[in-house]
Amino acid sequence: MSIHNQYKILEFKDLGDERGNLVVVEGESDIPFAIKRVFYIYGSDPEVIRGQHANKRTEFVMINVSGTSKVKVDNGFESEIIELNRPRMGLYLPTNLWKDMYDFSEDSVLLVLASEHYDSSEYIRDYNEFLKEVGVLNE
Ligand code: TYD
Repeated sequence: MSIHNQYKILEFKDLGDERGNLVVVEGESDIPFAIKRVFYIYGSDPEVIRGQHANKRTEFVMINVSGTSKVKVDNGFESEIIELNRPRMGLYLPTNLWKDMYDFSEDSVLLVLASEHYDSSEYIRDYNEFLKEVGVLNE
């Protein structure tokens, strides 16, 4: 499957008014899963690479609520770089995509919504193991 049909760029509505902006992200409507976990990454230097894993069961939506960062997604066959650069933009990532997050701006706050509770056993942190999982390498 083409990687372009795997990840999705989401554009959230702005419910703001003269008092300021307001963006609402509801599970199972604005994003395609119920939210079980939220975490956020900030204070990462521009040269840091985070992520470097794939997930067997968890889907994610990433939002740079402040600042910017880049996400490289890789399905074992092809990869794509997406820049997260506005608070109303979401990046939906299904299972079994390798992801690197990097090039964090100083003011970057990367909010991540996840479909599952944390379970280290569903993380694939070895790239060759990931290639086996997606059928690029033989077992
Ligand atoms: P890590 O997976 O390296 O973070 P990232 O993918 O953002 O680079 O996680 C760092 C540590 O935090 C690691 O010991 C696992 C732990 N952790 C949790 O306990 N719960 C979580 O939801 C996440 C994302 C990480």
